[in-house]
Amino acid sequence: MNEHLTLNNGERIPSIGFGVFQSAPEETAVAVETALQAGYRHIDTAAGYGNEREVGEGVRRSGVDPAEVVLETKVWVSDYGFDETLHAFEKSATKLGVEQIDLLILHQPMPQHFERTIQAYRALERLLAEGRVRAIGVSNFMPHHLAALREQTEVVPAVNQVELHPFFPQPAVQRANAGLGILTQAWSPIGGITFYPGWGEDRRSVLEDGTIRRIADAHDRSPAQVMLRWHLQQGRSAIPKSTKAERIAQNIAVFDFHLGPDELAAIDALDRGVRGGPDPDQVDPSTWDLTIPEP
Ligand code: A2P
Repeated sequence: MNEHLTLNNGERIPSIGFGVFQSAPEETAVAVETALQAGYRHIDTAAGYGNEREVGEGVRRSGVDPAEVVLETKVWVSDYGFDETLHAFEKSATKLGVEQIDLLILHQPMPQHFERTIQAYRALERLLAEGRVRAIGVSNFMPHHLAALREQTEVVPAVNQVELHPFFPQPAVQRANAGLGILTQAWSPIGGITFYPGWGEDRRSVLEDGTIRRIADAHDRSPAQVMLRWHLQQGRSAIPKSTKAERIAQNIAVFDFHLGPDELAAIDALDRGVRGGPDPDQVDPSTWDLTIPEP
């Protein structure tokens, strides 16, 4: 049903995971339960999404053995700093209802407060050494953030989760990740960020792109499935989000067809070089009005 990717520390994760960004808490437990019953075994959430508790609830409700499920979550920037991040682990683990978190990553670099980013990562290293997490990583790190991190810390991140879809495939980030042995994990893998309301006007949904549509028609698949296949064949982890049962099932039914080299190249050529989400160097996330409540 799924394929697996091996992280740089030998741990394995399914190549297609399930995303819950912007899933309302009341929808999340049902969506996670539906996803696990459809065959997903990896859920990606974040302290900042405000739905970790419902992710844990969805796992318990599903009847799937929790030991089979990879849970990934992210430390929000208001919890950066060594002791703060150790405490952020406790908050997330309690909300998720687990003792050990499979994959714990930093949600954003804080270029304006990089020392706190480094201290937060050192806390992740400590949690890893103590066996409280199985793997650690980062999100939204650009190559120069990775280089600065590598200079000041020991453990190479297992993953770097970044915005990545056909309109913004970030080849330089992918190369930097690969050069360091970091798995590239795609957020908004089917380009949700290209049409989410409120993220900017004049956007064009990658789901409606003509090239993707043509390839989808040729394989009798949906545009979302074609994009997920593109990620898989290029060795990335992808975490598509949906709260609709039919799409949840569709997004994991991607292991029985193949895109040819010309099709992969045609998708690569859709790169517009324009990000949909915030620029990690421009935005100071510590100014956002978001703090992570105690459990
Ligand atoms: P919904 O939750 O209503 O299904 P991404 O993970 O790339 O950010 O994309 C998520 C967005 O894409 C959500 O708006 C989701 O809406 C929608 N979506 C998820 N799966 C599909 C699909 N198979 N076809 C069309 N839209 C989808």
